[in-house]
Amino acid sequence: MADPCVVAIVNPKGGVAKSTTARELAGQLSKAGKSVVIVDLDHSPGCLSSTMGADMSTVEGIAHALVAERYDFCDCVQDIEVRGAPVGLAAGGAAVGAAEQTLSDVANVGAQYRLRELLEGAPYDYVIVDTPGNLSVMTIMALNAATRVIIPVFAEEESVRGLQGVIDTVDAIRRYSNPAVSVDGVLVCRYSTQAESPALLAEEIAELAREAGVGVYSTRIRQSHAKDGRRNLKFRDYEAFAAEFVGEVG
Ligand SMILES: Nc1ncnc2c1ncn2[C@@H]1O[C@H](COP(=O)(O)OP(=O)(O)O)[C@@H](O)[C@H]1O
Ligand SMILES: [Mg+2]
Repeated sequence: MADPCVVAIVNPKGGVAKSTTARELAGQLSKAGKSVVIVDLDHSPGCLSSTMGADMSTVEGIAHALVAERYDFCDCVQDIEVRGAPVGLAAGGAAVGAAEQTLSDVANVGAQYRLRELLEGAPYDYVIVDTPGNLSVMTIMALNAATRVIIPVFAEEESVRGLQGVIDTVDAIRRYSNPAVSVDGVLVCRYSTQAESPALLAEEIAELAREAGVGVYSTRIRQSHAKDGRRNLKFRDYEAFAAEFVGEVG
């Protein structure tokens, strides 16, 4: 089987909708008939695995797969659902914190390529890699395994300021260790017309991206509110985004 398309969701800043994007994109791709697995490289309490109620005690997660000598990736995947669509999950959680320490050791030669190696020939169309809200060996490992990178940002000053750093990191990885990786696009999330000057900030993001030679998806994910329930704006926006991502539009 051909290697899967590995997509890293990257922004070493917390709370910019990385995990939300990973989950919703995975769900949409599955709904479109693709086989999809999410790899959760985060170990913070709010990581995707914990919010999705994954089994983190009886099933070995991605941490085990990354540090084991020999390991079949499929053995760490559990079945979950995203809005009724079947998705695989290689769970993260606390064990990832311990694995991160082991893999950060410079004597652990090749650790930064462990995920790439693990995913070779994995029987999925898409692997969506969710990364933590800080720059760690996990983020580097995700970028070494990926061909496409999605950078979610909020349309807010602080988020815009950090964008260049993320683009620079991807550039460095392409130059030194993974020539196949590039930024697929910047995804403007939690876009709210009620926020202060969102259009201006979106324009600022677009200009920065243009100068850095990366694209911005034309779909923006609007800010939604819990009370909206199933009519939640962001679900509809992620549907449009997934279509743009696979090249149907935009
Ligand atoms: N479009 C949106 N509208 C409203 N809330 C959102 C939206 N996108 C994400 N959120 C919320 O923002 C918080 C942070 O999102 P999350 O995906 O966990 O970010 P990250 O993984 O980058 O830390 C979560 O509570 C999530 O539900
Ligand atoms: Mg997250």
